[in-house]
Amino acid sequence: MTIAQIKVGYDNFSYLLSCEKQRKAAIVDPGYDAKKLLMFISQKNLTLEYLILTHYHHDHSSGCKMIKDLIPSVKIVASEKDGKHLGVLLDVVVSDNSQLKLGTMTLDFLLTPGHTAGGICVVVDNEALLTGDTLFIGDCGRTDLPGGNTEQMFRSLHEKLMNLPDHLIVYPGHDYGDVPFDTLGHQKVTNKTLAVKNLKEFSLIP
Ligand SMILES: [Fe+2]
Repeated sequence: MTIAQIKVGYDNFSYLLSCEKQRKAAIVDPGYDAKKLLMFISQKNLTLEYLILTHYHHDHSSGCKMIKDLIPSVKIVASEKDGKHLGVLLDVVVSDNSQLKLGTMTLDFLLTPGHTAGGICVVVDNEALLTGDTLFIGDCGRTDLPGGNTEQMFRSLHEKLMNLPDHLIVYPGHDYGDVPFDTLGHQKVTNKTLAVKNLKEFSLIP
């Protein structure tokens, strides 16, 4: 399996997941430069099976409709709550413990509200963790936008992501850190939003 981290727009990351064995691909968060993402897929002679939206915000999802119009067989994947804001119909609704196969790859989904009400993270083949705007390198996503909630974010980070294995590579939705990706184990001790001990400390992070 291959995960390509592709910088799009100003500081967004889109991701291209590909299973070389069965020539299948998924795009995660096609916010900007959707044509660039499709070029990668056609150059590698892959079939696009899924469009996965970690959350509904425009900078992560605006390429969705154009791709669906060009490739109607692609399945759009998001949570029920964020799917309502996408402006396109979902083909697959995911929640905690949902699992999809992409060729020989396994995608496990976690519902991680806090930045939006229906934000999700995706574990890829027990190797990578795509975190959208839930977790960045060194920080977490904003909770002051519509649908955001500080307590929910704390619970998503500390009751879900902190329980995942240290070896996972965190691939965030924006290039906000000093590195573009990192191990979850390193983030657990260096990321200020994961290093706090309780909700009170979390709420006081500037
Ligand atoms: Fe966002």
